[in-house]
Amino acid sequence: MAHFTVRSLPFVLLLCSSRSSEAYRPVFIVHGLFDGPKQFKTLTNFIQKVHPGTQVTIPDLYPDVLSVWPLWTQVKVFRSKLEPLLKQAEEGAHLLCFSQGGVICRALLSVMPSHNVHSFISLSAPLAGQYGDTDYLKKIFPKYLKKRIYKVCYSRLGQELSICQYWNDPHHRNKYLKYNNFLPRINGEIQHNYTNVWRENFMKIKKLVLVGGPDDGVITPWQSSQFGFYNINENVSTMRNREYYRSDVFGLKTLDTRGDVSVCVQSGVGHVHWHQNYSVFSSCIQQWLT
Ligand SMILES: *[C@@H]1O[C@H](CO)[C@@H](O)[C@H](O)[C@H]1NC(C)=O
Ligand SMILES: *[C@@H]1O[C@H](CO)[C@@H](O)[C@H](O)[C@H]1NC(C)=O
Ligand SMILES: *[C@@H]1O[C@H](CO)[C@@H](O)[C@H](O)[C@H]1NC(C)=O
Repeated sequence: MAHFTVRSLPFVLLLCSSRSSEAYRPVFIVHGLFDGPKQFKTLTNFIQKVHPGTQVTIPDLYPDVLSVWPLWTQVKVFRSKLEPLLKQAEEGAHLLCFSQGGVICRALLSVMPSHNVHSFISLSAPLAGQYGDTDYLKKIFPKYLKKRIYKVCYSRLGQELSICQYWNDPHHRNKYLKYNNFLPRINGEIQHNYTNVWRENFMKIKKLVLVGGPDDGVITPWQSSQFGFYNINENVSTMRNREYYRSDVFGLKTLDTRGDVSVCVQSGVGHVHWHQNYSVFSSCIQQWLT
């Protein structure tokens, strides 16, 4: 008893404080179309303020205009960067992915075997596809409207552009399935040799967090951020009514049945504000980053 003196106290405190900072799993952020690590400083600050000591990594890959590069190439390069870092995270890690980055992460989690990602937080991503006229589209196709984009996108050449790889025109479903070599494959709308392996890999996540909302202004329909999408008459059918959910072809239904899908809908948030809005962070994100 007597030798438990004041002198040993600082040492004990030091141990405690280093424990508590190590308690937060590292967070990896994947940026969106036409942005890069610069745009995620605010989000990094939010995380490190509420969870001091959290290691936050934002790979500087395909930033800004390079983000239109074909997605399978991007997935390969992100994978080569992230996979070794994930392996170092002995207690697992979180993926926080914005917009197009959400689609990249979706693919990463399918192709990476035995990954250790706990929370996959998708921040307003076109997970079920995109069909809408937006400023982003105008940057790439100044003269086209959404009704005609399929002619460009659903071709071998079009598939060299990231945006075409999640372009989902509900009026040209056969062409979408035939020519889109990205989204229909990861969402199991086209079956292939790896469908079941990818499903197993994806289901290894502990939590799927789907953040989005009606005032987004870019993701169209906005419900795509939660796996809902247009049917042929442009009505939106929600996640649980989509064929890929019902057939559980990539594990979404299993995750949902397990109670591991958290949907967070927020109004009043424009597309570029999702990762800079503290109210969104504290209501939808913070709790999953432990
Ligand atoms: C898919 O599997 C079939 C049958 O096992 C095989 O013939 C084919 O080469 C495979 N395709 C790819 C892309 O691996
Ligand atoms: C959308 O669905 C509603 C309810 O099922 C229906 O009344 C409406 O006509 C549909 N809209 C279109 C454009 O088909
Ligand atoms: C921030 O998010 C809240 C919802 O959580 C929303 O009401 C508000 O309008 C947003 N502000 C901005 C600037 O996006």
